[in-house]
Amino acid sequence: MVEDDRSRRDTRLLPALFAAALAVAIAAGVVAYAAGHYGEQTKTVTTQASGPTTSPTTYPKVSPSVAAGAHTFVQFACVQCHGMQGKGGVDPAVPALKTVGHSLTVAQLTHIIDHGLGESANPKQPYMPVWGQVLSKTQVSDLVAYIRAGLPAVADTQPVAVPAGQGAAVAGAGLYVRYGCINCHGPNGLGGVPNPLSPDKSIPPLSGQGFRHDFPTDKAIAAVIRSGSVIGRAPIVSMPHWGGILSARQITELIAYLKTLK
Ligand code: HEC
Ligand code: HEC
Repeated sequence: MVEDDRSRRDTRLLPALFAAALAVAIAAGVVAYAAGHYGEQTKTVTTQASGPTTSPTTYPKVSPSVAAGAHTFVQFACVQCHGMQGKGGVDPAVPALKTVGHSLTVAQLTHIIDHGLGESANPKQPYMPVWGQVLSKTQVSDLVAYIRAGLPAVADTQPVAVPAGQGAAVAGAGLYVRYGCINCHGPNGLGGVPNPLSPDKSIPPLSGQGFRHDFPTDKAIAAVIRSGSVIGRAPIVSMPHWGGILSARQITELIAYLKTLK
């Protein structure tokens, strides 16, 4: 136990070792992460929870704003494009965020998160989505604080687990949360998230007659998930490009989930 704990700290958390040696042990019990909302994931959640319980891991002490930023980074799926703690490695078009905390100012980082960045019109590669309409000023400033703090490890920030071996629709429901579709398209694909400058004034639902009429085939749904769909320039929120981020299988699972909705 002790050796396992020590080797984990050596490899993963070396810089934090001294600062954090005392400020530990809390939070480990609080891994009720998402379990309440996603009952079917109990099995996986339990597995994750047993880690910190049996071998407590140390985390650097961070301010409430940096901690909130770390959670927002996971909840809004920044992590799925920019990698764990912004370390990159997901897709060549998506940069790591390890150095921008120093090289960019608070104002520049805020502007990029609010307005997006990159060739949104290029259907072949991911671009940085517009978040200014979806996130509050507090959430954006917490994200900036987290990036400026060097994207440290923060307890209980594991992305929602995707259940395996329980069918495509169940996996798709997990992916819908893990990849942050839910933040823009709403729980149960109900839509209604404001997008004031878009023609519809809100981000479209992924359920109901209208959606099925416009996207009658799996192929049509897969194509828009892969390419994204740009409605207009920031501050209008457009559909991100997920090709290269989501695998063909994950897209199939998401579609299987969408078909179970009303
Ligand atoms: C769909 C994938 C995707 C998601 C989700 C995403 N990003 Fe990005 N992000 C990108 C891409 C691609 C770029 C590079 C754009 C360019 O320079 O062409 C980028 C660039 C950035 C940059 C500028 C980096 C630099 O080196 O200039 C920051 C900061 C950033 N993203 C933060 C975030 C935050 C915070 C979130 C979550 C709210 C987020 N991103 C979510 C794809 C994504
Ligand atoms: C940043 C907000 C945002 C996120 C995150 C997001 N979408 Fe979208 N999505 C949109 C917007 C805006 C549109 C409308 C695009 C248009 O009208 O051209 C859209 C359109 C779609 C459509 C076509 C429906 C229609 O009526 O246009 C599908 C399918 C879709 N999204 C699936 C997903 C899936 C699956 C995910 C998660 C992997 C996801 N979206 C994540 C904003 C988002």
